[in-house]
Amino acid sequence: MRTLGIALIGLGAVGRAFIALLQARRAYLAAQYNLDVKLVGVATARRGTLFCPEGLDLAALSAVASAELSAYPDQARLLRTLEPLSLLTRPSVDVVIELTPTVYARDAEPAMSHIRAALAAGKHVITANKGPIALAYPELRAQAAHRGVFLGFEGTVMGGTPALRMARQGLAGCQISAVRGILNGTTNFILSEMESGKSYAEALSEAQARGYAEADPSNDVEGIDAAGKLIILAHVIFGKALGLDEIGREGITRLSQADIQAAQASGERWKLIAQAAIQPDGQVSASVKPMRLPLSDPLAQVGGGMNAITYQTDLIGAVTLIGAGAGGTATAYALLSDLIELAEQL
Ligand SMILES: NC(=O)c1ccc[n+]([C@@H]2O[C@H](COP(=O)([O-])OP(=O)(O)OC[C@H]3O[C@@H](n4cnc5c(N)ncnc54)[C@H](OP(=O)(O)O)[C@@H]3O)[C@@H](O)[C@H]2O)c1
Repeated sequence: MRTLGIALIGLGAVGRAFIALLQARRAYLAAQYNLDVKLVGVATARRGTLFCPEGLDLAALSAVASAELSAYPDQARLLRTLEPLSLLTRPSVDVVIELTPTVYARDAEPAMSHIRAALAAGKHVITANKGPIALAYPELRAQAAHRGVFLGFEGTVMGGTPALRMARQGLAGCQISAVRGILNGTTNFILSEMESGKSYAEALSEAQARGYAEADPSNDVEGIDAAGKLIILAHVIFGKALGLDEIGREGITRLSQADIQAAQASGERWKLIAQAAIQPDGQVSASVKPMRLPLSDPLAQVGGGMNAITYQTDLIGAVTLIGAGAGGTATAYALLSDLIELAEQL
């Protein structure tokens, strides 16, 4: 049995769901992958940190995971005061799972520092955090290759729905010439609500009331979140590093109820489409903008908070994947799938 020691940096919705998933899948990981996963450390911004080289008790941790970590019971060799950066470089840590929030249009901190430090210390890294991957994938991939460690980031695009793994593994051997997707569930929810007659402002309020949209929704409604995911897709599919300013970007804020009705009258639907294509000269063109799609387009059928992506391939034509783009358990599954890929590589 191979044991992997894990440090979780960030214990929010996704981190808590990941701990629950580890408990639920412990026997499965042992039976299928000969893998024993030991959570040796967790770090938060304001609720403390926990580290124990022998492994934390998952049930006891789950019980306090939304509260102050000082409520976690004492155990031998438990440390409660390590800073995240010294916690993640400890010898008993094999894998760092980075789950802090970031504004990637800026500097993607603090995740960038966490991931750089982890890779420099020879730790495998798994993250659902778009920021560092969108901003610095070539650097981080080179560093991981240099240290001979794994860098997994399936959860950065479409949460637990395996959009990146589909491109990298499911479609291996095909050439992908273009990708188009609904990569932001919040805006898709707002557009679906507008189709049922609400104004943009009413639909946004509904999204905020349900916790889909933040108090400042600009990251979603201006297309910034979708553009970040498109940058990650361009890295993975085309091997191209796009800057945010290289993506023609328009959000959904200018769409009116009249626009929605005009599309409906023509048998079409507005969707916020993120798309990228490789040009004959090898350049990648990319945009995020609202588009009117005919109902025959699979993306037009994707309603509510769902996400979808269509890959245009040379050998099997268009392939579309539809699934949840967010959610604690779904995104925790993406982390688990990366962990399984790592276990298979080891
Ligand atoms: N939620 C989703 O459905 C989803 C889907 C795809 C990707 N993601 C990505 O996954 C990551 C985690 O999402 P989430 O929803 O779990 O976020 P969250 O609920 O906001 O939790 C973030 C966690 O990070 C901790 N944190 C912040 N700064 C830190 C620092 N400097 N050092 C250590 N810990 C720090 C916070 O500590 P405190 O508890 O003390 O505040 C909190 O525990 C984000 O990058 C997000 O974009 C999330």
